[in-house]
Amino acid sequence: MSMIKFPDNFLWGAATASYQIEGAYNLGGRGESIWDRYCRTPGNIEDGTSGDDGCDHYHHYEEDVKLMKELGLKTYRLSIAWPRIFPEGFGKPNPDGIKFYKKLLTLLKKNGIQAAVTLYHWDLPQKLQEIGGWANRKVVDYFVEYANLMFQELGDLVAYWITLNEPYCTSFLGNWVGRHAPGYHDFGTALLVAHHLLLAHGRTVKAFRATGLRAAIGITLNMNYNYPKTDSVEDRTKAELCHAAWNRWFADPIFKGCYPREAVQCYQEKGIMPKFDSKDLAEMMQPIDFLGLNNYFSVQVSKDANNWPLEAKEENFGDDFTEMGWGINPEGMYDLLMRLTEDYGGVKIYITENGAAFRDLMDHNGEVEDNNRIEFLYRYLSDVHRAIEDGANVQAYYLWSLMDNFEWALGYSKRFGIIYVDYETKQRTIKKSGRWYADVIKHNGFEK
Ligand code: BGC
Repeated sequence: MSMIKFPDNFLWGAATASYQIEGAYNLGGRGESIWDRYCRTPGNIEDGTSGDDGCDHYHHYEEDVKLMKELGLKTYRLSIAWPRIFPEGFGKPNPDGIKFYKKLLTLLKKNGIQAAVTLYHWDLPQKLQEIGGWANRKVVDYFVEYANLMFQELGDLVAYWITLNEPYCTSFLGNWVGRHAPGYHDFGTALLVAHHLLLAHGRTVKAFRATGLRAAIGITLNMNYNYPKTDSVEDRTKAELCHAAWNRWFADPIFKGCYPREAVQCYQEKGIMPKFDSKDLAEMMQPIDFLGLNNYFSVQVSKDANNWPLEAKEENFGDDFTEMGWGINPEGMYDLLMRLTEDYGGVKIYITENGAAFRDLMDHNGEVEDNNRIEFLYRYLSDVHRAIEDGANVQAYYLWSLMDNFEWALGYSKRFGIIYVDYETKQRTIKKSGRWYADVIKHNGFEK
């Protein structure tokens, strides 16, 4: 049997996010976040839960680092809860919040696990939402202030900084689709929020360079490959428009200093394109050290006059589906990696999330035999490897997720972890996929 071998020094990791795992929502001086508030409205979260307890990682972090070590992770991606640092969003920082992350990061360092820290994974301080949230330009300043404090306090403990996680979700899911906090339905607001997020990203990168820290810095974007549903000109045009509106909307300003023309034109025709200062775009375009990519599925796009504003319909597809209803389609990952490589000049890519939710059950021996997840990972990693062989500069892979956790609007109903979490007792159990992944890390690859 032959082996699929990854490049030497390939970074194998796993990822989580503060609101999804920490719990302790009212401890250690943490302020309220927009997700605390969003979860309180009945109907927002499918199973009526919240991240109040999460996996109680706040109290279990030592055990969790031990598990990471057991899996052999080279790197771990976590996020910082802004309201733990600035309970009010700005002003006086909370020393207990800083202390928590210092303890966690110090422990990771002691264990030889490189930390990748996301500064914003959606838990905006509620106080800032009260002044308009990301739609208020002032929040950009508060974010940079918070980021600067983190560079100062945690700079020597972090190897990779990620400014934002999936600004698409913050802006469009939060302010247009309304399935994420703060739960609004206004496209213009979503565009304004996206603009401020990109500006916050650019200014944070600039501030980071001024610190002289030697770590790397990037941003995480979620992208899906948009295939035309048929070969018709209409479907092909709509597939490109969706690529422009959802993927390039965030990548082009960073790498090219402009918004994609097709999408701008569409929004102008509909009268929903805000007026932006071109100086902002120049600020967004700061050289970054890597592009973080989150990919789970791909879509097929067709023309649909009833779907405002893009007049396109996107359908998930694949030869099988995960518990999220997401099509399993590893070729989509390959095609995306190749397209990014071509469009952004061989950009260095860290896959900062990929993984799957399945209906995991613990058997009477206390084991979770999640063979479907192993199959999923095997297939996606094979296509990541194929892209590397074909010239994509992929240097890291973070599996989503290290452990089962609070899956946003879907509550605790979807398990993504390679570690099973019993939400009652908070007991952790490494799943079969976790053992499989540990083996992949150990051998820097797997059997074909
Ligand atoms: C997010 C994670 C989320 C995962 C699965 C990504 O969009 O960054 O927080 O749990 O996908 O839905």
